[in-house]
Amino acid sequence: MRKVKNKDDKKLTVFTQRNTAIAEQFRIIRTSLQFLAEKRSAKRFMVTSSASGEGKSVVIANLAAFFAQQEKRVLIIDGDLRRPTQNEIFQVENYYGFTDILKDGVDVRKVIQKTEVENLDVLVSGIVPHNPAELLASFDFETFFAELDVDYDFIFVDAPPAILADTPIIASKVDGVIVVVALHSVKRSKLEQTIRSVRSAGANVVGIICNKAKRTKKTAYYYKQ
Ligand SMILES: Nc1ncnc2c1ncn2[C@@H]1O[C@H](COP(=O)(O)OP(=O)(O)OP(=O)(O)O)[C@@H](O)[C@H]1O
Ligand SMILES: [Mg+2]
Repeated sequence: MRKVKNKDDKKLTVFTQRNTAIAEQFRIIRTSLQFLAEKRSAKRFMVTSSASGEGKSVVIANLAAFFAQQEKRVLIIDGDLRRPTQNEIFQVENYYGFTDILKDGVDVRKVIQKTEVENLDVLVSGIVPHNPAELLASFDFETFFAELDVDYDFIFVDAPPAILADTPIIASKVDGVIVVVALHSVKRSKLEQTIRSVRSAGANVVGIICNKAKRTKKTAYYYKQ
């Protein structure tokens, strides 16, 4: 396993600091998802949340890295065409990406980039478009994913909060949706609304990941900022 170059980059901290309690939580989530993946032949997962800033992008990036660590071929797609961040997390260029495939039908293999994590590739967003929902709605996801299935065992898609029109479109094309919830900042009713909206798109909520828990004496949580 190659080491992640920028070990001080806090956004992949869970993955780079593997002996922490939170890293263990990610391994547990990985095991549950793998179990589900085998049982239901699922391989494409999307992340969303009720509000922005709950930690979707960071959680999905770390989760993808943990999957790649098991010698699975993993792709992370930045499907958040409004506030893309996977290029920052993995410190790669964002000149070309998903938008170029959506708009111009560019060959996906030409825009996928390697990350510093072995077995993990990234498809960044590319230049942010002015009409993401329209681009996504008219896109042939089936052909796109079928092509990617040849090269990857698991595909993780970062997406915007559930209230935006883009999110149910992507949700309806994946095998499972993971909802990230920032504890202490998002009300239960909002979370329930998010789950309902994902389900009404015909998607399966396969798990809820609680993030940004407050540190207590007894527990070690995610990184400190
Ligand atoms: N558990 C955590 N503890 C501390 N900081 C966190 C935690 N999870 C995420 N963050 C930080 O919170 C900020 C928002 O995280 P992130 O970008 O992953 O959220 P997001 O849900 O993807 O936001 P957006 O809706 O804007 O895409 C980032 O600076 C990230 O590093
Ligand atoms: Mg994000």
